[in-house]
Amino acid sequence: MAWQTYLDREQDRFVQELIEFVRIPSVSAKPENVADVRRAAEWVAARLTAAGAENAQVLATAGHPVVCADWLHAGADKPTVLIYGHFDVQPAEPFELWTSPPFAPEIRDGRLWGRGASDDKGGMLIPILAVEAMLRTAGRLPVNVRFFFEGQEEIGSPDLPPFVRAHAERLKADMIFSADGLQWAPGQPQIVEALKGLVSMELVVRAARADLHSGLHGGGIANPAMALAQLLGSLKSADGLVTVAGFYDAVIPLSDAERAAIACVPFDEAAYLAETGAPAPFGEPGYSTRERLWARPTLDVNGLTSGWQGAGTKTVLPAEARAKITCRLVAAQSPEAVLDAIRAHVKAHCPPGVTAELIQNPGRADPFQMPAGHNATGIAAKALTEVYGRAPYRTRAGGSIPVMTTLLDVLGVHAVMFGFSHDDENLHAPDEFFRLDAFRLGQTAYARLLEQLGAG
Ligand code: BES
Ligand code: MN
Ligand code: MN
Repeated sequence: MAWQTYLDREQDRFVQELIEFVRIPSVSAKPENVADVRRAAEWVAARLTAAGAENAQVLATAGHPVVCADWLHAGADKPTVLIYGHFDVQPAEPFELWTSPPFAPEIRDGRLWGRGASDDKGGMLIPILAVEAMLRTAGRLPVNVRFFFEGQEEIGSPDLPPFVRAHAERLKADMIFSADGLQWAPGQPQIVEALKGLVSMELVVRAARADLHSGLHGGGIANPAMALAQLLGSLKSADGLVTVAGFYDAVIPLSDAERAAIACVPFDEAAYLAETGAPAPFGEPGYSTRERLWARPTLDVNGLTSGWQGAGTKTVLPAEARAKITCRLVAAQSPEAVLDAIRAHVKAHCPPGVTAELIQNPGRADPFQMPAGHNATGIAAKALTEVYGRAPYRTRAGGSIPVMTTLLDVLGVHAVMFGFSHDDENLHAPDEFFRLDAFRLGQTAYARLLEQLGAG
């Protein structure tokens, strides 16, 4: 295949381009990086044009922009494929924990180290490069291709639902592939068949108007930090069951076949504990660790603040205590229904002497699940099997990609995860990296995938 020769020959340039891309600090969560997210969008649009894609454009939303492009000359008898990815990244703090600076990427040990290298700049560059190789060598693509890259995935894609509805014609496709996604391990592919949904909130407990002297007022009025701890304690039983009335109501129970499919994929609990450093597994009773990670909803505190945070003692009765909470959801839970259930719980269990308020935070996603036997999943599995020499595991993931269900609702198409990151690449953490051999293998896999889609 001429495109493979092209990929081999141009690989060094591609790596340099990825470095250039990762240099742009396109942190969607931070207002001071708005212009950088825009700069990343412009970089992507220019790179698409250089690859031979047409109509590359940076398109406005109410927030961070979207980049679209296409190549639609394969013929009306050929399918149209939409390829998705995101060019925004998570904040890189704490900077001091990075071995090399997050936005001054370095190559060490065949890996590119930098914020966004794995999630998702390396991943989203891959299909662009595969398309370039095919266009430069064959002058055409085997299928019609549309590109759809966003700059707000890491904040929950708040402006994407109206964007997708307004641009449905431009995004119309027979199949969708997400270049944001994971492989199992170098040498072992996977197809991620389900992603969890997400709902984010902040629980705020208040008593006095301002912080007070704890000797003068302790015992006189309630302590919001204590009350928050009691409220949080009431959300779960000691053995890990969420005790919020209605929390599990909409969950579709795991069938025996689904449990068997999950058990089919190897899981080494000791290795998992070693990897995380935790002394024991913990979670909802009645399910295996793997089932809880992949297929059961969760409720977690992500942050806690109240009172004096500095060194030593400050004898203060805090006015306020706050907990950031997220729930990861599975089919067919709704973020809003779960929020309502927690709100009702908070109201019913609020300790005396304080007020409790539950505020929804931005960042929500519906759970996403591929139907069994999906056609595009089969083709993706075939391409992965050819490239890796091994059949992919069928897995699920606890992460969320909010736009997946938006695309399903508006275009009626389930997206297949076809990405080449790995779960040990420190996504969202210090020392994020991307494997350069996976970068290269992914390009071959995308070219194969497009060929197979065109041959079918
Ligand atoms: N790429 C991840 C999602 C992911 C992670 C999918 C692991 C499959 C396996 C994505 O960029 C992400 O981090 N999403 C956020 C969404 C949130 C901010 C609404 C997440 O899951 O926390
Ligand atoms: Mn991602
Ligand atoms: Mn992410």
